[in-house]
Formats: sequence, structure tokens, C-alpha cells
Amino acid sequence: MSTHDRTKFVAQSSAHHYAEMSLKTSAPIDDVDAAADSFAHLAEGRRPEGNPIYGRLHNDTVSEFELALAELEHTDDAVAFSSGMAAVTATVMAASANGDHLLAIRPLYGGTDHLLDERVCGIDVRWVTADEVADAVTDTTALVIAETPANPTLDLLDIQRLCDDAGDTPVLIDSTFATPVLQNPADLGATLVLHSATKYIGGHGDVIGGVVACSEDWAQRLRQIRIATGALLHPMAGYLLRRGLATLPVRMEAAQTTARQLAVRLVEHPSVEQVYYPGLNACDPHGLIGTQMTGPGAMIAFDVGDRQLARRAMEDVQVITPAVSLGTTDTLIQHPASLTHSLVDDNALEDCGISPGLLRVSVGLEHVEDLWGDLDAVL
Ligand SMILES: Cc1ncc(COP(=O)(O)O)c(C=O)c1O
Repeated sequence: MSTHDRTKFVAQSSAHHYAEMSLKTSAPIDDVDAAADSFAHLAEGRRPEGNPIYGRLHNDTVSEFELALAELEHTDDAVAFSSGMAAVTATVMAASANGDHLLAIRPLYGGTDHLLDERVCGIDVRWVTADEVADAVTDTTALVIAETPANPTLDLLDIQRLCDDAGDTPVLIDSTFATPVLQNPADLGATLVLHSATKYIGGHGDVIGGVVACSEDWAQRLRQIRIATGALLHPMAGYLLRRGLATLPVRMEAAQTTARQLAVRLVEHPSVEQVYYPGLNACDPHGLIGTQMTGPGAMIAFDVGDRQLARRAMEDVQVITPAVSLGTTDTLIQHPASLTHSLVDDNALEDCGISPGLLRVSVGLEHVEDLWGDLDAVL
């Protein structure tokens, strides 16, 4: 990442962009006809031209965050939600109008997998591999959904190839693990770029939110759904997420530097059977690091070959925090089969490598030697 690129992130939260935080639930109305027009305009999912009326229809602080994120993801617009899962749900609901099924590529975050597999949004899912998309896609495919790097095994997928294979069908890339610092899926053809902003974008483990970067048309549909379902991001969260952008590249670089070192040491550790980290050549067979992504990021998964050993390691850490979530200042370790991916179908878990001995680490900002000492001791 160049100095110039870092500057773009700082500029998104700098003083000259600063808008007063707007927390009010409703705006005073002095002209009812004008307010009625504004209400109708907002209900169509458009950005306000007049009175913003009510906080569920529009909020300036949230809007500032959305526009900043859209600029960093090279899209025309973005829509923020109360969580990453609210963002996934709204996207699936919006896409459902275009077809009768989705194609989804595992692994996905366990919550997304569960939402799709249980048909929570009322639409069928067909689970495919990236190589099967070209043959599986039909005129009635509403959406193709993928994560890269994927949670929790860090599988990488060639976004451009996936979008070519999907043809006219919209493609949603969950880019939570990469952030706009490491990749811009829209440049490679993705229709929708989703982040659980709870993670790296917030960056301090103290805010929950989600965001989808996309075209104005998609944004309009997503805002209509957000208004109808009430999944608006709280303005205080919008403020914190926008502030998070200023330090995002620096946090990513620092955590990535530590993660590279830990991944190499884990490969050598006698108790570790397999390490999954995009910076290891074996985990990047298509050479996507340096092309699709500017770096491998700061998430690592590794297999210790045994459920009990993995769970004990998670419980015994002293410096690392045993907790779900990711992308925060503290290094976190968790056991996906017991926690984040526990609702995923057992056969699917096995098929996509979420084994009983798998641990996932979100590398934070502590010193590498403290982290390594801790891991070495529990392994
Ligand atoms: C890749 C990914 N997408 C989406 C989500 C859901 O985000 P949230 O927890 O903000 O609802 C998560 C949560 O861990 C995630 O890891």
C-alpha cells in the first residue's frame, strides 16, 4: 500500500469532511406538503433532497460513512446496516426479485451459511464450488454469493473469473477479511461488495455494523428494504465506523506483518498439522496475492488434528483473547466447529475443511513475540 493510498483512507475521516453527528430521531416539519413529497422520495430508497423526516429513512452521519466507504471500494454508492448479517439479509431479499434460487460457495461465515441453508429469506440455495458456477448458473439464478478470503479456512477465489462465469447474474463478494485496503472486488466485476464492518472497519471490537458497496440502483433497492425492515445502522456506530477508516490501512499493515511471521512459525510447529494463510504459497495456488489482493491479511487458521486439543488451546491462552469476532486490536482465537460455524451442516463442515481440530486466529496489534510465546505454550 503506497503513502498515497493511505492518504485516501485518512481523508475519508478527516476534519474537512467532518459533519456534525446527527442523532435526532426526527426532523421538525414546517411544510407538510413538502414533507410528504420528501417522505415519498425517501421511501423509494433515494437519498434525501428535502426534509429527512425520520431516522429510519435517513441519517446524515450514517450517510457520510456510506459515501466514504463507496469511494474506497470504487462504487457509486453504499448502504450501511445494523450488522453484517442485516446487510447479507437485505442483499438476499433484494436479489430474490430476480430469480428463484441463489448459488453459494462454501465456506462462508457460519451465520451466512445458516441463513441461506435454512431458507430464512424464503429463497432456495444451491451449494456449488467456484468451478461449478459457469454450468450451474441459469436465467433464474438471483445471485451468486462468495467470500474471499473465506471464513474460516482463508480459501481464496478468483473474483474476476467468478464474475465472468456468473455472466449477467449479480455476484456478491463478502470482503470482510480483506477490507478495501487489500482488495476492491467491484474493480474485478463484483456487483455487490459486503463487509461486516464490526470487524476491521470498526477495528476496536466496540461496534456492530454492516455495509454493502454497489451501484445506485442496488443501493436504492437496499435502502427500501432497510427502511421496511428497520435495519438501519445507529448513527453513533456510523460515526465510529467512519473514524475507523482513518487508521484501517495502518492497522491492517501492522497486523499483517505479525500474521506473516506467526504463519511461518506455525508451519514449523510439531503440534500443527496444517496452516491456512493466504501468504503461504500452498494456500495461494492461483497467485492471487499481489494481483487480486495487495497482501495476505491478518487472519490465520490452523489444524491441530484433534477437537479436545484445539478447545484446550483456546481455553489456555494468556495473551491472546479466547473470543469470536475478528479484526480488532486484540488477537483473538476461536474454535469454528464449536462456535462460529457450529450451525453449519456436519457434512458441509467436513467437505469444506472446517475440521474438529481447526482453530482460527485474528491477529491484532500485540508484539509478535508475546503472541508466539502464548501460542507455543498452549500447543
Ligand atoms: C465474513 C463475515 N461476513 C459476515 C459476518 C456477519 O457480520 P456481523 O457479525 O456484523 O453480523 C461475519 C461475522 O463474523 C463474517 O465473519
